[in-house]
Amino acid sequence: MVRAIGLTRIARRNAVFVTCSVLLVVSLVGATRAWPWWIGVVVFGALTLVGIVDVSQKRRTVSRNYPILAHFRYFLESIGPEIRQYFIQSDLDERPFSREQRAAVYQRAKNESDKKPFGSLLDMYHPGHEWINHSLAPTTIDGHDFRVEIGGRHCRKPYSASILNISAMSFGSLSGNAIEALNKGASRGGFYHDTGEGSISRYHRLHGGDLVWEIASGYFGCRHDDGTFNAERFAENARADQVKMIEIKLSQGAKPGHGGILPAAKVTREIAEAREVPMGQDVISPAAHSAFTTPLELMAFIGRLRELSGGKPVGFKLAIGHPWEWFAIVKAMLETGQRPDFIVVDGGEGGTGAAPLEFINRLGVPLTEALTLVHNTPGGGGASRGDPYRCGGQDHLRLPDRPNPGAGG
Ligand SMILES: Cc1cc2nc3c(=O)[nH]c(=O)nc-3n(C[C@H](O)[C@H](O)[C@H](O)COP(=O)(O)O)c2cc1C
Repeated sequence: MVRAIGLTRIARRNAVFVTCSVLLVVSLVGATRAWPWWIGVVVFGALTLVGIVDVSQKRRTVSRNYPILAHFRYFLESIGPEIRQYFIQSDLDERPFSREQRAAVYQRAKNESDKKPFGSLLDMYHPGHEWINHSLAPTTIDGHDFRVEIGGRHCRKPYSASILNISAMSFGSLSGNAIEALNKGASRGGFYHDTGEGSISRYHRLHGGDLVWEIASGYFGCRHDDGTFNAERFAENARADQVKMIEIKLSQGAKPGHGGILPAAKVTREIAEAREVPMGQDVISPAAHSAFTTPLELMAFIGRLRELSGGKPVGFKLAIGHPWEWFAIVKAMLETGQRPDFIVVDGGEGGTGAAPLEFINRLGVPLTEALTLVHNTPGGGGASRGDPYRCGGQDHLRLPDRPNPGAGG
């Protein structure tokens, strides 16, 4: 009885394959009498061939168990996102940007009307709904170009940054064309372009847009052959006019503590040139920095980079993990009097070129909580909550120039 059920199942699973094979035989017989049967021979011959390949391969169980039929499933699976996007999801569903937000960006980029009739489609009573409180006394502003001065008293070359800029995305994770386009945008729009940890490529230099040079644990563009920090190479690159600020990457929201590896096969000549690494070898970004290990050493490193860069603003980027580690950094600022000129806070929801799913989904404090913690830490940079902390962009925090003598530690 059990054997009979098993055989029925096998027959059902192979029904399409068997039917195609039978129709191929019928078509072959028909083709000896009239030429239109050749159409059947071609169609069923191709399907039978697919079926034979399916049952003889061992990589995909579904294809082996459901020859020919499995391909319909793969096809439907491949167009699933489009079906959901076009037919099922509402204009407000998608992440990280809804179709409504995307449409507004496209319209504004094309100078088309972005105005909408009637009211909001949002459920304003849904838990988590966010809004901004307006004033009853609207004011006028001098210009539309909001900017933030970055660079404390130790900086000889402070930088006036736009409040919206381009986040760090390396050449390597983005193509040369993408880097070139972003930098051209930065140049035309008067905002900065963060290089990401892949250093400064030739594509960053084509349009002269302001650069923030990111230094991560691989020290690309400023490393010795063994991967340690090379002060001379750093000074040469950092003093370039186009480089406006230096950003030390401590961690990134999408993959905190992960480091990274760029396999040798992906290291093109241009990537090798930008990162100053040899071709034909894996390029490793260690999980931790080798130029410093403690918060005190981090502060000393910041001071050193500022000097080597000729007095440009130096800051760091971090995703918040253990809060006490952030507090230790604040303590080091207070103890040494040495402080970063800006801090970039990345949220756990931040993007990446590549990272394991578990890191992307579950590691690192989300941006709102992380930014609130950093912003509200009394004594962070020696300031109390009333001091002029500023958010220069979604996730940038400019630190006040001098400590507030009254602030607690
Ligand atoms: C393709 C890609 C590459 C990235 N590369 C880097 C990188 O090299 N260094 C870095 O600190 N962050 C990198 N990030 C993270 C972003 O800089 C940023 O922290 C994150 O996307 C969240 O900020 P956002 O809301 O401005 O996008 C990358 C993100 C993406 C999508």
